[in-house]
Amino acid sequence: MRSGAFITQQRKQKNMLLLNKISAWISASTLLLLTQHPVCTSAVTACGVFVDPPANIEIKDPGLLGQLSIHWTRPDSIQNLKDCTVRYQLRYYDTYEERWRSIRTLKLNFAAQFDLEKPVKVRMFTLLKCPCTNGTEVQGEETESVYTPELTGVEGSRIREFHCVFYGNEYMDCTWESGPAQPLNSQHHLYYWHSEMDETKECPEYIVISGVRRGCRFPRKSLKEFSTFNVCVNGSSPAGNLRTAFFSLEVQNHVKPAAVSYLRLRVSEMERLVKLDWAPPNGMVPEHCLEYEVESNTTMADGTDHQQRKGLENTSIDFLKEGESKKSCFRVRSKVNMYCADAGFWSDWSHIKCIASQETYVPAWDHLILVGLLVIAIVFILIICLSLWILRKICMKKTSKKGVLYTLYKQKLHENMPTILSPIFQ
Ligand SMILES: *[C@@H]1O[C@H](CO)[C@@H](O)[C@H](O)[C@H]1NC(C)=O
Ligand SMILES: *[C@@H]1O[C@H](CO)[C@@H](O)[C@H](O)[C@H]1NC(C)=O
Repeated sequence: MRSGAFITQQRKQKNMLLLNKISAWISASTLLLLTQHPVCTSAVTACGVFVDPPANIEIKDPGLLGQLSIHWTRPDSIQNLKDCTVRYQLRYYDTYEERWRSIRTLKLNFAAQFDLEKPVKVRMFTLLKCPCTNGTEVQGEETESVYTPELTGVEGSRIREFHCVFYGNEYMDCTWESGPAQPLNSQHHLYYWHSEMDETKECPEYIVISGVRRGCRFPRKSLKEFSTFNVCVNGSSPAGNLRTAFFSLEVQNHVKPAAVSYLRLRVSEMERLVKLDWAPPNGMVPEHCLEYEVESNTTMADGTDHQQRKGLENTSIDFLKEGESKKSCFRVRSKVNMYCADAGFWSDWSHIKCIASQETYVPAWDHLILVGLLVIAIVFILIICLSLWILRKICMKKTSKKGVLYTLYKQKLHENMPTILSPIFQ
């Protein structure tokens, strides 16, 4: 024990020791230190010495809401070895991903992100490579340090449903619900930190609903992408402080693009294609970072509905018209793609664009009817022409017959008629 701010623990006695030291920790809430028990020695030997775990392991909390720095020193047992490479393996439990992470380093410090509401677990051993180890790396025994932060504040007052959405890469809203047992007249405070800040800052703009703080709006300039972004929400009330909640996120994984607002639907008659295209949504998400999902809803002639969803990277798609369909409707939404972030939220759906069968499929029938009418017309004209031709033939025959009769008649008349009347019949 070097001072009241130090907590010494060993795997087997950690809980007992922790109880004794809680008061010490409270008095140094922003500086948490852990040291390795000095009598812990390794059974592994190399070059005639014990390969002990690193000594004086300390976990320091600089007050950056979970970003802790771990320090250690070279173990005494190998202090005097010459021409050796000494490396350290550090494993720590990632409470966000619920798995151990490992690093190996020649250095004597390492910074990692921890959830200060959960036990901080670190395991370390020494790796020794000397001429006398025949060039192989000898691995010492592992030691574990655990620190369980004490949860202070009124029980049941921790906020719930914490949720951050980075709208169109323009501003981020983080919202929460109050805890189940929140004391009356409580006031929440949000503090945040990222790697380009020297210290934590309070929320730049609280979201207040019915006079109560329910969230925080971060303008773009207060955010940093691809970096740990730590948040804590604590609070005070006449009944005492509220229990602090800690969160750590990367803002680029919380983007929700705006809804697609320009959507166009065209029907190509000849190819029987429906062409849908749209413009990328407004906002500051780069176009190459967006992926889309198109939903089509088709009502068939028999009344059944077909729904289809298709993911795509560009801003247009062609659908083949379904012959039996009565109506087809389309809508689009977007999300940040895997080239720009590990996660994201779907935007709201665009408005819906529809085509009905009358518009789409009647033109096809029109063609047939038109061709049919044309054929009928041609046939009709041909029949009329033929009829006229036949009629003419008949008429001509009749006139020639008439002519013959008339001549005969005239001759007869000339013979029997008085000459006075003859001029009338000429
Ligand atoms: C290194 O090699 C020598 C000779 O081969 C052997 O005697 C010795 O035990 C080895 N040492 C280690 C640490 O393996
Ligand atoms: C809330 O957390 C911040 C940052 O750690 C701290 O400065 C402040 O004192 C805390 N407030 C309360 C009421 O616990």
